[in-house]
Amino acid sequence: MEVTPTGATLGAVLRDLELATLTDAEFAEVYDAWLEYAVLVFPEQHLSDDEHIAFTRRFGRLERGFRRTMSAGIGRLSNVTKEGEVAAPDSVQARFLVGNTGWHSDSSYKRIGAKASILAAHVVPSTGGETEWADMRAACKALEPEAAASLDGAVAVHSYRFSHAPFGGLEIASGEDLAHLPDVLHPVLRTHPETAQRVLFVGRHASHIVGRDLEESRELLRQLTAEACRPPRLYAHTWSVGDLAIWDNRAVLHRGHRWPDDQARVMVRTTVAGDDPDNEWAETVDAQLSVSEDEFAGRR
Ligand code: OGA
Ligand code: MN
Repeated sequence: MEVTPTGATLGAVLRDLELATLTDAEFAEVYDAWLEYAVLVFPEQHLSDDEHIAFTRRFGRLERGFRRTMSAGIGRLSNVTKEGEVAAPDSVQARFLVGNTGWHSDSSYKRIGAKASILAAHVVPSTGGETEWADMRAACKALEPEAAASLDGAVAVHSYRFSHAPFGGLEIASGEDLAHLPDVLHPVLRTHPETAQRVLFVGRHASHIVGRDLEESRELLRQLTAEACRPPRLYAHTWSVGDLAIWDNRAVLHRGHRWPDDQARVMVRTTVAGDDPDNEWAETVDAQLSVSEDEFAGRR
C-alpha cells in the first residue's frame, strides 16, 4: 500500500489496496496508520453496503444513530427524498444536514462517544460538499501553558438538544429518542485511550462548562474550537464517487462544507461504537446478524 501524508498534522491518503478484500496483515497496517494519522482517505473503493459494514466491524462494534430503538447499521447522509427529488432547503431533511457544517466529534452527546466514523461518497455535487478534519492532538499541544492549566479538570456538558435544536433535531427525534439522550459530561482535555496522547475535546455538541458561568464558558468553548481548527491542523477532502474516509473521533473534529442547495449529495456512513463492553449505543450480538438501514437525515 502507498501511504501519502497530507502534509498537515493529520491525515493520509492510502492507495494500492482494496478494502473489500483486505488481509489481516494489511488491516493491521491500516489500523496503525489510522492511529497515527487519525484520518485516512481511500480513493476509488466503491464498496457495497455489506462491504462497508464488514470493513467497519474490523474496527469494533457498530454504533446506532441517535435513535436507540433502531438497530445499528448503515446510515445515509442524503438530501435526496424518497421520491428522488433534491430536498427543499427548508425541509427538515436538508436543515438537519446543515448541522454537520459545525465542527464536531460524532456522538459526543452520548455517554460514550463514537470511536470511528466511516464515510463513503455515492453521489457528489459539482462543487462544495468537502469534508474537513481538525487535529485535536496538535491543538492540545498548541495550547498556551496557562490556557492548558486553566482547562485542567474542566468538564463540559455535551448536549444533543443544544447542538441539534437549531437544525431540526428536535423535530426528527421522538420523545422516546430524546429520553435516551440526556446531557452528558466529558472532560475538555482527555487522554486518547489507545495512543495516550492528550486531546482537546470540544466541538458543536459541547454546550458549556460545569460550575462556570454558562454564557462565558460557552464562549470559551467556541473560541477554543475556533483556535484549534486552524492550519496546520486542517485537512479537507474533495470527494469523488467511490472514495471512503475513516476518522478517529477521539482525536479529531470534523465538519462538512456546504454545497449548492439544488444539487444532490449522498454519503453512506457507519459509526464504530466507543470501545466499552457496557456501551448502550453499540450493536448487540443479535444485531450483528441482521443489519437494517438507520434513518439518519429525516427519512421517516
Ligand atoms: C458525518 C459528518 C460531514 C459530511 O458523517 O458524521 O459529519 O461532510 N459528515 O458529510
Ligand atoms: Mn459527523
